[in-house]
Amino acid sequence: MIKTVEWTGDSVVMIDQRLLPEEEVYRRYDDYRDVAAAIRNMTVRGAPAIGVAAAFGVALGARQYKGEDWNGYEAHMSKVCDELATTRPTAVNLFWAIEQMKAVLAEARQQKLTPWQATELLVERAKQIHASDIEANERLGRYGAELLPAKGIVLTHCNAGALATAGYGTALGVIRAAIAAGKQIQVYADETRPLLQGARLTCWELQKDNIPVTLITDNMSGYFMKQGLIKAVVVGADRIAANGDVANKIGTYMLAVLAQAHSIPFYVAAPTSTCDLSIPSGEHIPIERRANEEVTELAGRRIAPQGVAVANPAFDVTPNEYITAIITEKGVAFAPYIESLKRLLQGEN
Ligand code: MRU
Repeated sequence: MIKTVEWTGDSVVMIDQRLLPEEEVYRRYDDYRDVAAAIRNMTVRGAPAIGVAAAFGVALGARQYKGEDWNGYEAHMSKVCDELATTRPTAVNLFWAIEQMKAVLAEARQQKLTPWQATELLVERAKQIHASDIEANERLGRYGAELLPAKGIVLTHCNAGALATAGYGTALGVIRAAIAAGKQIQVYADETRPLLQGARLTCWELQKDNIPVTLITDNMSGYFMKQGLIKAVVVGADRIAANGDVANKIGTYMLAVLAQAHSIPFYVAAPTSTCDLSIPSGEHIPIERRANEEVTELAGRRIAPQGVAVANPAFDVTPNEYITAIITEKGVAFAPYIESLKRLLQGEN
């Protein structure tokens, strides 16, 4: 199994996703500031993986506090949480994980534990967040597998696999579970410009698992849909609003519109930690803008004239009307999502 983010007992180890597929390099972190930098520079990426890394970052930050008084500890922890929270704005799993850790701190203070005891609880909570993400993916994978055809090609975008989570993956988890259940699924992977998560990461991890994968460029999906080749689209999510609007990697919206035009089911697979019911619709989701060089360069080589204007939004929002179903570890939500998501999150499926 691919080890995206791992706790070693006194440090966090993460695979450097910027170097894949050519190099498989694991980096060790024992300072929360370096974990924050790794999230920001996309050494680790993918909504659930970012959340897990942030939780371990908070645990590391707590371990770095050497004092014994609560006031100093609290001030230090608030600095740790704030720094981790400013790394990337769109994936809500980051903020969800930090809130989970803050709740442990508040509870420890109420119970009058020492900072040292609180730190041990934080480490435990981060380990649980890691383990429960893998479990959630395996569970949602089984729900999603039932929706896929017995045989055929499934298109995916970006990387919503083991590398984007603590393990197994969301969209790729659905595909893995379908194959484990005996379905004959082949994957078409969009390359996913500008950072090529589809080409570099999805193809790498599917090849490792011997799952048949064909790489296509982002502008080929309509061609293959029109030919009747694509039987379903499955993608992950960075944030799902209360009405079922979904923020995911730039280009997802385009695929969803195309899928609807060709009557192809369009599924979103995500754990409930990706749902943000505090925002009514996708318009409220902050969209990360990234550096121009990601667009003007390819593999370190300039591909556009100097001085050209560039736009580089890292995510887009797919309105809920294009989404056939949202697959979570608590079950599958169908429209109207405003009701079905609330029911799932309250555990009444
Ligand atoms: O910019 P990235 O690589 O962090 O974006 C990742 C995505 O958009 C994924 O599709 C999403 O986080 C779901 S991962 C299970």
